[in-house]
Amino acid sequence: MIPKFRYVSNLELASRYRGIPGCVVECGVWRGGMSAGLAELMGHERDYFLFDSFEGLPPASEELDGNLAAAWQRPENLLNFRNCTASMNDADEAMRMSGARRYKLVKGWFKDTLPGFTPPNKIAILRLDGDWYESTMVCLDHLFPHLADNALVIVDDYYAWEGCTRAVNEFVSRSRNQGVVLRLKQFDNDVCYFERRTFPEWTPEVELSRDLQEARSGAR
Ligand SMILES: C[S@@+](CC[C@H](N)C(=O)[O-])C[C@H]1O[C@@H](n2cnc3c(N)ncnc32)[C@H](O)[C@@H]1O
Repeated sequence: MIPKFRYVSNLELASRYRGIPGCVVECGVWRGGMSAGLAELMGHERDYFLFDSFEGLPPASEELDGNLAAAWQRPENLLNFRNCTASMNDADEAMRMSGARRYKLVKGWFKDTLPGFTPPNKIAILRLDGDWYESTMVCLDHLFPHLADNALVIVDDYYAWEGCTRAVNEFVSRSRNQGVVLRLKQFDNDVCYFERRTFPEWTPEVELSRDLQEARSGAR
């Protein structure tokens, strides 16, 4: 689903945050490939949480997500991966193959599963890949308070779907309510992210592992 070059960019960006302790959460995992890549990169001593309905995307709202999203979701569109429906077993298998030991798949709609979720420790990396407005906003609302200092938040669909863009813009513009000022950033001319930056003097790691350097040179 995610193109190879973007997969590698996501991992390269995440690798700069390996120094931040805490768990890794992905909301919208589909078959689990991105979470598995993160688990291999970020190490097996962390907890990984994978949230998904495993029933595909909820209906897009024409008002919040736009006509294109609604059209894309129609059943006759054979290019929508059956509305992004994946089996939980596939995600489980991907995580098992990554070597991760401490991971949990949480099945259900974000609006039902996130309110009762408290991670065992702060979240170092949060990856949002739920496409639509509501799917993005509910994650930001519930998970932002659990972010570690300087945590990385990757927003997969910021440049792809207007509902996601709208949710992030709204959330960031009211972030002073959370006691921080959030600034949207872009990595590799492609990946949208922000940090819950509390220490201005802190800088992410920049040294790339050999695996990632090789993947990067083969990805484009
Ligand atoms: C684009 S796919 C994720 C792709 C995956 N991150 C990857 O890199 O391969 C979007 C996923 O988000 C899930 N999803 C979207 N909105 C959701 C919601 N509100 N509750 C639960 N799952 C949701 C869908 O089931 C789907 O698996």
